[in-house]
Amino acid sequence: MSTTTPARSNPLARIDWDYIEFYVGNAKQAAHYYMSAFGFEQVAYAGPETGVKNRCSYVLAQNKLRFVLTASLLPDDEIARHVLLHGDGVKDVAILVEDARAAYEMAIAGGARSVLAPTESRDEHGRIVKATIATYGDTVHSFVQRDGYTGAFMPGFIAERRSIAGAKAPQLQFVDHCVGNVGWGEMDAWGDFYARVFGFSQLVSFDDNDISTEYTALKSKVMTDPRHQVKFPINEPAEGKKKSQIEEYLDFYRGAGVQHIAIRTDDIVATIDALKANGVEFLDTPESYYEMLEDRVGAIDEALDVLRARRILVDRDDQGYMLQIFTKPLQDRPTVFFEIIQRKGSLSFGKGNFKALFVSIEKEQAKRGTL
Ligand code: FE2
Repeated sequence: MSTTTPARSNPLARIDWDYIEFYVGNAKQAAHYYMSAFGFEQVAYAGPETGVKNRCSYVLAQNKLRFVLTASLLPDDEIARHVLLHGDGVKDVAILVEDARAAYEMAIAGGARSVLAPTESRDEHGRIVKATIATYGDTVHSFVQRDGYTGAFMPGFIAERRSIAGAKAPQLQFVDHCVGNVGWGEMDAWGDFYARVFGFSQLVSFDDNDISTEYTALKSKVMTDPRHQVKFPINEPAEGKKKSQIEEYLDFYRGAGVQHIAIRTDDIVATIDALKANGVEFLDTPESYYEMLEDRVGAIDEALDVLRARRILVDRDDQGYMLQIFTKPLQDRPTVFFEIIQRKGSLSFGKGNFKALFVSIEKEQAKRGTL
């Protein structure tokens, strides 16, 4: 960065999602799953064929979504150890910034631990500056400064386009929010972390009175950037009669990590139909939910039987309503999953759906013997 760039008071005031990187056991097969089931297209690749000796990375894209699937080629490196401990999971929730050095310096000044100091890389398509800090568990945030970079992803990657013929296109648009699960009593500290390190503010919080069933409970607070572009809800388990779903996650993931990624769609009914045709499995919703729905949310554009047939959830706040549904876990361990969300005015997170959702999750937990 040249010294003539004017200092900004908050280098994280104008940010967006850049990519989400998963560390997985077999990136080739994982890439095939996300392409065939979720309609992604592969756009870039790094591996031995491109001069990278220790790993393979597949970059998948769909509208404004970008996922990177990375697997180690070694028996014992940082990636292999991450997969050994956590199973397949999210490593890096990367943030697009205007000035990666300034973002990194603000984060470090706020108490973040450095993983990668600002590093510039170049190829014939331009340059990228990237810096990385640690967050909860073994999860990290990279700050990515692109400066009009025109390559497929980053220096070190080659453009390689591939898609699965016959996979239905669900038209997933962009990340709405990305949720972290942290340990008992740690939610407030991580909320403070995002306030200090990112300059985020708290959008909303829920306690165990909001988010509990007869058996299990959790607490949650949502941290957001000033433009509400990047939202990080943070959950911790709460005491209930039985094991919290957050505790189950922490047991299987062996610590804190990303619980779910909420993905926006403009047409949830068409999206869910496409995903189901591709074989994606969703959590069920109790039938009783739909008997009470009209009274709870009032008039909506969608026909009730259309939503009921797809088990789509609806919630309303004073600004509008939203529709959402949750996939089953995306890998063997009951850890990370997706939410599909369509917003019609509402900025909320589906508080009115928590109970129905958790009854459904508890049924799945009971099957696993972890309730
Ligand atoms: Fe969510």
